[in-house]
This record gives sequence, structure tokens and C-alpha cells, in this order.
Amino acid sequence: MKKFLLTICAALLLLATPAQAQDLGVELTDISAEDFNAPIEKFYATLPQAKGNYKSRVRPIVIEGAMNTETEVLIRALKKPVVYREMNYMFVAGTYKDYPVVIVRTEIGLANAAASTALAIKKFNPCAVINQGTAGGHDPALKIGDIVIGERSFDHTAFRSAYSAAGAGIDLTKQENIGTYAYDAATKKFQAYTEYFPDPKLLQVAKTVAAANKNFNVTTGVIGTGNSWLECIDYMNFLHDKYGSSCEEMETNVAAQICQNAGVPFIGIRVLSDNATNSREYVPETAKIAQDFVLLVVERYVRDVLK
Ligand code: 5AD
Repeated sequence: MKKFLLTICAALLLLATPAQAQDLGVELTDISAEDFNAPIEKFYATLPQAKGNYKSRVRPIVIEGAMNTETEVLIRALKKPVVYREMNYMFVAGTYKDYPVVIVRTEIGLANAAASTALAIKKFNPCAVINQGTAGGHDPALKIGDIVIGERSFDHTAFRSAYSAAGAGIDLTKQENIGTYAYDAATKKFQAYTEYFPDPKLLQVAKTVAAANKNFNVTTGVIGTGNSWLECIDYMNFLHDKYGSSCEEMETNVAAQICQNAGVPFIGIRVLSDNATNSREYVPETAKIAQDFVLLVVERYVRDVLK
């Protein structure tokens, strides 16, 4: 009897599972937000697989996104895409408007973003890295779908708290940001940085694209990174007031850090998929907006800076 009931439950569960989860052999157009980070290896397998090393006459531009929803528009835009795989991170190399571009699916979070960025730099020798994707707002003035061009980034979890005795309660607002360690070319040493800045030319190009394309709602601001997802409004307001953070996400600041180590120009560009300070919604489909905007930035960067 017990066995019978278990079989029924298993059958019901199988029926309730969405088709996508059962069969990951999907086409690019089938990759939906619900399946936001399922490793769709079978999709990658449909693209030409790399044989041998990456070869390009000119250094490519690397564009990063953590999840399938944050990279699918970019991959679709590439001509002659070829898939490379290193340590299970996916890299799709091709050309965009005749310029070599490599899309990196970094996977979620700080360690993955750092590792995949380092691998991308070693493997593809990019002339620039753009980290893009979704983010949650800290600034109540920002709406879902708005784009934040990172004029700086910081790790909002890299802090030292003030001392408080056992039983005294928790007050994380008494904190000092202690930064993260990156290479300083001037002193030839690693040192703590409480913030990282984008490459001035990439920043200028992103601003120019924003000014020329009023269909995107773009602001420049501060991107806060951490392996956390905050929904505690008082703490988010605190981060916004103390550090000026416009939004939070999980990759930008480490990608900036690794690019600084390697001396590679970098910028972070994010679209708000959520903003708990003014709405309880989460709209991961906004990922498309950032990708559309970043493609314009790439086109302009190639035209105005690289050529
Ligand atoms: N907090 C943290 N990360 C977020 N992301 C989108 N919204 C948020 C948020 N409110 C991004 C992260 C990560 C994935 C979960 O989505 O960068 O890659």
C-alpha cells in the first residue's frame, strides 16, 4: 500500500513539473525566465563546439551575464557563434557587427563571476569587459526596467561591524566598509579598494548611447555587490544613504576587481528587475533591456574608441 501511494505521488510530481524542467533540450527562444539558471547544456550543445584555442586578429570585447536570461539576447546577436567550455563555465565567441565578441555566462555570485572573468581574460585576451544583467533597486526613485550605468561599484558585504557585547542586539548600521583586495599597478601591490571605477571611455560611450536612445530609461549610479538578496527596507535605505548605492546584485564588483588586476578596461551596466523599496515585484524578463542597451554600447565603443 505504502509503495502504491509513493508511486502515485511520484507520478503526480512528474506531471506537475514544467515541460522545460523535464527536457532541457530547448531552443534559444524557449529559454524563459522561470528556468532562469537551469544549465541548459543541451542548448549549448546545439551550437558549434570549439576545437582548439581561440584565435582572433583583434582583441575581442567580453560581455558577461550570470544567467541564461541575461545572455540569450547577446548570444542570439552573434554571428558564427562557437562554444568554449572551461571549468564548466560557458563562453560563446562570435562577431557582432563584424567585431569579435565573447559572451560569458558567469553563473551567479561573487566567486563564479571572479573565476569566469579571470578565465575569460586568460583565454580570450579581451580589450574590454562589460558586466551586465539584472539588479534590485536601493534607490526608491528607480523603477523596474530602469538601467543603471555603474559610475562605481562596491562590495556591500565587505564591512567590519562595530563591537557590541553579547545580548546587546544587532545593529549593522554601525559599520565600516573594508573593501576588497586588488592589484595596484603604481605600487605593484595588492591593496584594499572600497570601490572600483569603470574605464572612463566605456563610461563616456555608455552615457552617449543613453543620451541618443531615449527609449531606455538610464541613469548613472552606484552598483552594490554581495552574495545576498536584501528585502529589508531599513537596511537598503541605510546602504543607499551611507554608500549612495543605486542597486544591488551579485557580480559587478568582483568582475571590476579582476579586471583591475589584469589591467583590462571594465564597466558594469544593470537593469532593475526588482526594487523592494517601492514594489514587491520581480521581473526577470527585464534582462533583455540591459542586453539591448549593451549591444548599442558595444557598437558605439567599436566605432568611436577601437577603430
Ligand atoms: N539582489 C541581489 N541580486 C539580484 N539580482 C537581481 N536582483 C537582485 C537583488 N535584488 C541578480 C544577481 C544574480 C541574480 C540572482 O540576479 O546579480 O546574478
